[in-house]
Amino acid sequence: MKERIEKIRHEVEEFTAKSKEHAEEFRLKYLSRKGKISELFDDFKNVSPELKKEVGQLLNKLKVSAQEKLDRFKESDEVNVGESGADLTVPVPEWKGSRHPLNLVRRQILEIFGRLGFTVEEGPEIEDDWHNFSALNFPEDHPARDMQDTFFIGKEVALRTHTSSVQVRILEKTQPPVRIMMPGRVYRNEAISARAHCFFHQVEGLYVDKNVSFADLKQTLLYFAQEMFGEETKIRLRPSYFPFTEPSAEMDISCTICHGKGCNVCKYSGWVEILGCGMVDPAVLQNCKIDPEVYSGFAFGMGIERITMLKYGVNDLRLFSENDARFLAQFESEM
Ligand code: PHE
Repeated sequence: MKERIEKIRHEVEEFTAKSKEHAEEFRLKYLSRKGKISELFDDFKNVSPELKKEVGQLLNKLKVSAQEKLDRFKESDEVNVGESGADLTVPVPEWKGSRHPLNLVRRQILEIFGRLGFTVEEGPEIEDDWHNFSALNFPEDHPARDMQDTFFIGKEVALRTHTSSVQVRILEKTQPPVRIMMPGRVYRNEAISARAHCFFHQVEGLYVDKNVSFADLKQTLLYFAQEMFGEETKIRLRPSYFPFTEPSAEMDISCTICHGKGCNVCKYSGWVEILGCGMVDPAVLQNCKIDPEVYSGFAFGMGIERITMLKYGVNDLRLFSENDARFLAQFESEM
């Protein structure tokens, strides 16, 4: 009997549990009703009276140490590790995905203009020459029509180079008033760097009605700039040129990084360009069968990447398309 106790004591000592199943196996084998230790207790009645005290003590000791061992298995982390090595008892963290920063800013832009009554329209990314260039008053020899700047798919078909093509698509089928925002992806044949990519995203705005003036354009854009970048934001319009607007301008906002003191984002000028705009050229209205004697309008177009970079201090355009989770996870939002 003493030998059997000693043998089982040894087994118990050697036993290691690497999983919950092992711990249960241990319990069944030694401590359950039909386990080896219970068996020993059953046989205890056959022990001769003079040995009863000694054997009884050994048996009790064995039972207590086996029970302690089982308790330790239950507490230890080791048995909570599954076959794969993963700790199966760790609470599942509340995994919150995050919106892509460009999507976030796109929504913000559309929401701000939505408050001014602008609705949303979209157009195709594969576009014909008419909608991307000709109807927008691009001359035949304009450099954008060159293979070097535009991804052509066929002779008259290309990946759109801007969202202005959607202006034409909507104006062709709608009589004014038209007040719309047109977000989408655009493509240009550029070498990829921190500042340029072969595709990016724009949001186009268009308002055509009777008596729409440049003052309306300016006030609309000022409202947008201050809602997007903060009340203290200033804007300035510089004369520029686009084939489809006349007059045309580029809009700068006071630098969101240094607030006008001068930094390398604004190249020490205190201003950063964020969009192109102007009054819709009468020739464009005419191309869409809208009478320029009756109607006038303004249009503007901005790059979503640019707005996002300024708003969140992102300094490399490539981050937006690399899908690095460490970058993306920084943009949590309720929106
Ligand atoms: N389409 C122009 C661009 O891509 C931006 C623009 C839109 C300018 C509307 C004026 C009016 O640069």
